[in-house]
Amino acid sequence: MAKIGVFDSGVGGLTILKKLMDEFPLEEFIYLGDTARLPYGSKSPETIRKYCEQVMSFLIQQKVDAIVIACNSASTQVPEKEWQGIPVFNVIDPGTESALKISKTLRIGLLGTRATVGSNVYHDRILKLSPDAKVFSQSCPLFVPLAEEGWIDDPITNLVVFRYIQPIITQGIDTLILGCTHYNLLANSIDRAIRSSHLEIQIADSAQALADALKNEFDSGRLQYAKKASLRILMTDESKHTNEWTQKILGLNLSENFETVVL
Ligand code: DGL
Repeated sequence: MAKIGVFDSGVGGLTILKKLMDEFPLEEFIYLGDTARLPYGSKSPETIRKYCEQVMSFLIQQKVDAIVIACNSASTQVPEKEWQGIPVFNVIDPGTESALKISKTLRIGLLGTRATVGSNVYHDRILKLSPDAKVFSQSCPLFVPLAEEGWIDDPITNLVVFRYIQPIITQGIDTLILGCTHYNLLANSIDRAIRSSHLEIQIADSAQALADALKNEFDSGRLQYAKKASLRILMTDESKHTNEWTQKILGLNLSENFETVVL
């Protein structure tokens, strides 16, 4: 029986959790949002690494069989594929693979937090797999607060998105990586900005690629399918707003499932 621990700095990783719950409807999931220390994306690599180690150790105490780092900023600081003997999945490898699969021109745009863009991890992994690729990166520090606030499809969000996205769209990219799980929540505004440019740009779907990677683990027998779905939502700082927004993202009524934890 596999219990999968999924973590992010806040609610952004719930977009990944939702995908995994849709793909594996009978699995046991524990989600941890480190809301007390959000944002990760403006912190130093050392601090992000320390937070990741604390969260992964906590999840292992909860007896998870696999850890999904559903946060790009966190993923940049955890190159390991295993932590204390437990398989670890990040969101950067699937995002990279998905982008390279769909890009025809190998001109790839990356939107991410300052930590993710500054780490060059996407850039280096893309070039390792495809040395002819060109990566155009843009950090978008205002996106995370807009997503946490739930301002999706809001005129202010549309403006901010347009302002950040414009410089990389004009580089003639054909593929865009949303290198921060919070940005999935702003997908409508991002789509709108792309459409207004009249360019053909596809968005790399790292959630689907991650689900495929996990499916391989189940198929190979490294992870055993659970038989009964269960979900715990843990936050390091809980609020009514976070709980409501969580339920909206997951499309579920979860009032019983919230717990606050101290790491
Ligand atoms: N959701 C996180 C990511 O994918 C970033 C949010 C934050 O800055 O904490 O990078």
